[in-house]
Amino acid sequence: MKLKIALLPGDGIGPEVTKQAVKVLDTIAEKFNHTIEYQTADVGAIAIDKTGNPLPDETLKICADADAILFGAIGDPKYDNDPSAKVRPEQGLLKLRKSLGLFANIRPLTTYASLIHKSNLKEAVIKGTDFVIYRELTSGIYFGEKELSDDGNTAVDICKYTTEEINRIAHLAFKSAQVRRKKLTLVDKANVLETSRLWRKCVTKIATEYPDVSLDFLFVDNAAMQIILNPTQFDVILTENLFGDIISDEASVISGSIGLLASASIGYHTALFEPIHGSYPQAKGKNIANPVASILSAAMLLEHFKLYKEAGLIKEAVEKSLELNICTVDINSESLFKTDDIGEFIMDYIQFPQDYKVNPNNIHIGKSTII
Ligand code: IPM
Ligand code: MN
Repeated sequence: MKLKIALLPGDGIGPEVTKQAVKVLDTIAEKFNHTIEYQTADVGAIAIDKTGNPLPDETLKICADADAILFGAIGDPKYDNDPSAKVRPEQGLLKLRKSLGLFANIRPLTTYASLIHKSNLKEAVIKGTDFVIYRELTSGIYFGEKELSDDGNTAVDICKYTTEEINRIAHLAFKSAQVRRKKLTLVDKANVLETSRLWRKCVTKIATEYPDVSLDFLFVDNAAMQIILNPTQFDVILTENLFGDIISDEASVISGSIGLLASASIGYHTALFEPIHGSYPQAKGKNIANPVASILSAAMLLEHFKLYKEAGLIKEAVEKSLELNICTVDINSESLFKTDDIGEFIMDYIQFPQDYKVNPNNIHIGKSTII
């Protein structure tokens, strides 16, 4: 297969984790005889610094012309700490999602046998957790009208949803449930919000087209508690933009680190693949960030093109790295492995799954024993 990928490394740790994902994709391409071409473009704070625009036209064009987009991270403290900033890095990502019609953000969550005992949560609670969040991505309060009064004392963010916006992602979520464990949970705040009541109405109606899927509802405050209390009850979670943003960060604690979670954003045009984590500016350039979320985003990209064997091998390599404790400090605070060591190991495993070059005798000391 021939793939043209737009690479948007972005800010903070974005470039260093994306670099590992590209190394992994190249290794896959070589092994399975695919051709992958990349076009790199600026987005976020780096794009503001260069052009004044967090999503330059040229970047949007490169994305629209590509088969898929691999996105790094976005954000910079110099904007976070300045409430009066007129342009913000995040606007680049939001505009990209909107322009490409990426209305569904899919965030799978699983547990790794080798990490379960290290979690902040009890092993008995999280064992067997396997769910996926379908987060609406191009509407709701993120995109409603915003206003700040002239005197600066009143601010407004409108949350607006149409039936069309709800229905299109609901169908995707039901279809996903059909090939999973056939359970869909709509997370909303229908006891308070009109938009949530519309979500319930639409989703209840659509459910009749998917009689094999059982549907239930949870208020988001309760859902936030249930995700930690009893995560194995979930199969597919469907929710609106802001709630999905919040509960997916929360859910990452179950896996062990937000540095492990990948996502796919799909819609009408080119699909985009990105870690769910942010730009982690404190770690920028230190080679300590976890590249697994970016590498698994690359695996989701391959799955999007039905390259299941290739994606499967990446996931197997990631599992092996975790099993061997070849991980960054977010997972094992004593680890001496760096961002690029993880990338190297995963590449090596992909090339030689039976004979990857690691000295298992030294792994317990957290030394870089990739040879
Ligand atoms: C995410 C991020 C973004 C969001 C930010 C960077 C705008 O937190 O993808 O979850 O809120 O959607
Ligand atoms: Mn987020």
